[in-house]
Amino acid sequence: MNPVLENIRQRRSFKQFKKEQISEEQLQLILEAGLYAPTGNNRQGCIFTVLQGENLKRLGDAVREAFRRGECCEKRDVPDDYVCFYNAPTLILVSEDRNNFNGNSDCACALQNIFLAAASLGVASCWINQPRNTSDAPLVRALFDEFKIPKDHIVYGSAALGFADGEPRNIERRPGRVLRP
Ligand SMILES: Cc1cc2nc3c(=O)[nH]c(=O)nc-3n(C[C@H](O)[C@H](O)[C@H](O)COP(=O)(O)O)c2cc1C
Repeated sequence: MNPVLENIRQRRSFKQFKKEQISEEQLQLILEAGLYAPTGNNRQGCIFTVLQGENLKRLGDAVREAFRRGECCEKRDVPDDYVCFYNAPTLILVSEDRNNFNGNSDCACALQNIFLAAASLGVASCWINQPRNTSDAPLVRALFDEFKIPKDHIVYGSAALGFADGEPRNIERRPGRVLRP
């Protein structure tokens, strides 16, 4: 099988990460893959915000507290050790203007490029939705402002990146999802 198709087949979502950080070279290649994703009308409006270290911890804390308060997001009784990105050492937030009809799709294309690039480099990844669910919660939005994410942007999705701690789930693909009328 050609290596692109093999990579698509082999990529998995990981939900346990080691503490070890990915290299700057890996990060740059992964970001480049995101930047090369297609966008509706060639708008290229997705913004990629890389969080590591203290900034990433602050986002995890803000998301946890936002769920507990339930302000502009679903109220959830999350435990003290809840970290939506599984303590992965890097998170890339992918955001777009909430008024762009294609914003969600553009971000999803970029994220899939990111996941495939990561898999090809031996970097584990997972889509993390909680920054989206809490995008309008005041605590989280204040951090987005500090990170200079444009005010009219929604973080449509994010990519946790790091090294796998354990094996991913082996998920069979549901049959019967292709129609050829
Ligand atoms: C739109 C979308 C949102 C997702 N959100 C989350 C999430 O918030 N947390 C998480 O652990 N996984 C999330 N995932 C990953 C899925 O759980 C995962 O893709 C699915 O279980 C199939 O596993 P695989 O990626 O290994 O094939 C999301 C995936 C997609 C496409």
